[in-house]
Amino acid sequence: MLGRINHIALAVPDIAAASRTYRETLGAKVSAPQALPEHGVTVVFVELANSKVELLEPLGEASPIAAFLVKNPDGGMHHICYEVADILAARDQLVAAGARVLGDGEPKIGAHGKQVLFLHPKDFFGTLIELEQV
Ligand code: CO
Repeated sequence: MLGRINHIALAVPDIAAASRTYRETLGAKVSAPQALPEHGVTVVFVELANSKVELLEPLGEASPIAAFLVKNPDGGMHHICYEVADILAARDQLVAAGARVLGDGEPKIGAHGKQVLFLHPKDFFGTLIELEQV
């Protein structure tokens, strides 16, 4: 079912400071920040040879990462995104196996304009999983 790692997402309290650290201390290529109000985050992409890391800062009142940052004030790994070829087939197989899909169970359009779903972290060893159809 799983293809490549599409991205690893880190929630950070200050995206400008985090971008500077990734650019200057870690020597990575970091994109300009993009505000995604429909997702409640501002994001930058750290471009790596084999994948990317996304730095997420809360945007707006109802940001889905706000509670995470209350629990993890320094920031932390928020989710890992795996690519799948057929997101509906993957969902149906996972639900049949007892896994919980977050929200209404229907794919949404994610930050890259592709269909995504999130899987409950309690079913996957404490890690929030995003599936993205490629
Ligand atoms: Co993501």
